[in-house]
Amino acid sequence: MMFGDLSFEEAPLIKTKLPGIRSKEFLNLQQKLEGNPVSYPKGSPIAIKQGFGATIKDVDDNIFIDFFGGAGVLALGHCNPYIDERIRKVQKEITHTLDFPTEIRLELVEKIQNILPSDLRNNSKVIFGGPTGSDAVESAIKLSKIITKRHGIIAFEGAYHGMTSGALALTSGKFWKEKYMPLIPEVHFVPYAYSYRCPFKTNTAAACAEATANYFEHVLEDPHSGVVDPAMTIIEPIQGEGGSIVPHNTFVKKITEISKKYEIPMVFDEIQAGFCRTGKFFSSEHSGASPDIMTISKALGGGFPLSAIAYREDLDVWSKAAHIGTFRGNVTAMAAGSASIDFMLENNLANYVEELGNYMLLKLEKCEKNSSIMGEVRGKGLMIGIEIVEDKETKKPSPDLCSKIRDEMFRKGVIIEIGGHYDNVLRFLPPLIITKKLAETGIDICTESIEKIESEIV
Ligand SMILES: Cc1ncc(COP(=O)(O)O)c(C=O)c1O
Repeated sequence: MMFGDLSFEEAPLIKTKLPGIRSKEFLNLQQKLEGNPVSYPKGSPIAIKQGFGATIKDVDDNIFIDFFGGAGVLALGHCNPYIDERIRKVQKEITHTLDFPTEIRLELVEKIQNILPSDLRNNSKVIFGGPTGSDAVESAIKLSKIITKRHGIIAFEGAYHGMTSGALALTSGKFWKEKYMPLIPEVHFVPYAYSYRCPFKTNTAAACAEATANYFEHVLEDPHSGVVDPAMTIIEPIQGEGGSIVPHNTFVKKITEISKKYEIPMVFDEIQAGFCRTGKFFSSEHSGASPDIMTISKALGGGFPLSAIAYREDLDVWSKAAHIGTFRGNVTAMAAGSASIDFMLENNLANYVEELGNYMLLKLEKCEKNSSIMGEVRGKGLMIGIEIVEDKETKKPSPDLCSKIRDEMFRKGVIIEIGGHYDNVLRFLPPLIITKKLAETGIDICTESIEKIESEIV
């Protein structure tokens, strides 16, 4: 499959010193007008004029390869004409509907229900809350508390679930939450099967998954573990912000079975890894596990803000207006989302992503063998991470080298972001319609940048 006409294939094309003169003006004005939390332009200092597929043109007409994809939102790339056509049609007809039924709304819900993991497929209810992923997490928290009449929540180390109070309580990173504690009470974090740094010091991914799942069961089984029966377990089947961590394929299934054994609703957060990102429609499909409740957002809206939860039909025990919000479903986003699902199915995008992802991983793994600072290359589909370390023996994380590599890639025309427990993971989240040629160029720039930064270590 060729998506060459969806991006600027001549990318990268860097004509000015970066940031260019016009970008600098925009960035200075932004700094004057907006508050300190603005973050991405501090890592990749450009002002954007145009996005096209998997490429971005800045206001100085430099063209970049986009390995960031709007933090995973832009599965089908910037300004995909297939989506544009559908949204233009609906925008002429309607603007805002809250949760009144419309043709496009019901069409989208049915399409979502048809692609869900097996236990939920055509056996689910869908609820749209506010437009962000965090809101979907908030609604999953409420629903599970109503179902179980309990309060506690089990989340995983390395998790990212959002920034609103409940979602933030389930997010593991200290930096984001330490100034606002306490958030919601009774949240317990247990280890994720992060085999590169397995807390149980195991030697293989399978052993790490087993030890981690056993510990999870111990927490639920032992009346003195300190954890009172929780209302839900929430997991990213493949962790995103935690550093593109792919657990062994037995892990999520084991956790799900244990959670269900103890009658704790299992929530899969597919906000980042869903919608073909990992080479399957949902990342949980790699392990064959199905959740009770699933959160979805990012690519769901085809580039526009939209979030939802899907849950088993028999769990529809909450009442009218139990979770509401003014923007509970945005018409433009719904049209874009409906078009996106069609595009994914018509183009067998999951397969394309799987093949391209495997190819990229292979190229990076070859490079990793000759590098002393690439600790681990890992990923599924087009959710790939490279863990940067000071040296491979000690595995000491190096956020400093990682940001230097990101900056070097930027100077060469590739936009990429950083994540991970120690801010030392380069995270590849390109639009899924990126061509093999652009992906290859981007990977070559990445490996050249790593070699350059490595050669400068004194
Ligand atoms: C797995 C996951 N859950 C939840 C969220 C929160 O979504 P939002 O930023 O739209 O609130 C994110 C955002 O990156 C995410 O990756």
